[in-house]
Amino acid sequence: MAVSVCVFDAYGTLFDVNAAAREAAREDATLAECWPRLAADWRAKQLQYTWIRALAGAHADFWQVTTEALDWAMEASGLEDRDLRERLLALYRELAAYPEVPAMLAALKQAGMATAILSNGSPGMLEGAVKSAGIGDFLDDVLSVEAVGIFKPAPAVYALVTQAFSCTPEAVLFVSSNGWDAAAAKGFGFRSAWANRAGEPADRLPWKPDRILPDLRAVPELAAEA
Ligand code: LAC
Repeated sequence: MAVSVCVFDAYGTLFDVNAAAREAAREDATLAECWPRLAADWRAKQLQYTWIRALAGAHADFWQVTTEALDWAMEASGLEDRDLRERLLALYRELAAYPEVPAMLAALKQAGMATAILSNGSPGMLEGAVKSAGIGDFLDDVLSVEAVGIFKPAPAVYALVTQAFSCTPEAVLFVSSNGWDAAAAKGFGFRSAWANRAGEPADRLPWKPDRILPDLRAVPELAAEA
């Protein structure tokens, strides 16, 4: 069956999650050396908290999780600065998209594909990021886990796509830069591609993504041939 819907993870896939700490480091000398560790801790804790909250049945929205992860990361780097915290959070609300994203989405639309985001992000966060990246015109839908109140990789999250587009999982190409997300999406029944931006080893999970890409440039080609 041909792919008719192309769905993207948001953070790390379309939007550069390291951009907030990198940008803040340009303005604030205290971050000059430690921003890469701050960004890595922030992201790692953010994801860990989503998995723990999902397993424990203790959902909170992704903005709260993101804020709590930042507090952990700042303390781990010995940073205690309310203004810096607010600045980092403000920057996170308007993360830049990776450079290839607008043209890639435009090519998918031109080819007649339906396109969407499926993200842990809360609707407000996603709205802000889509707007600041200027990609709203290329997206048919922005789906948030808030509709089901549990984080990825709960199958109920991936099912939001088949419900929204009234399609079977095989009609969906799901693309994520998170190896575990691309793997779990494959487990749900989607075609899946892992954009391995960081050149990481493959996750040892029961499912393997169909394709591994260095970034998102080849997605329109992949969707057409799948
Ligand atoms: C998301 C996280 C997993 O956008 O990157 O859902």
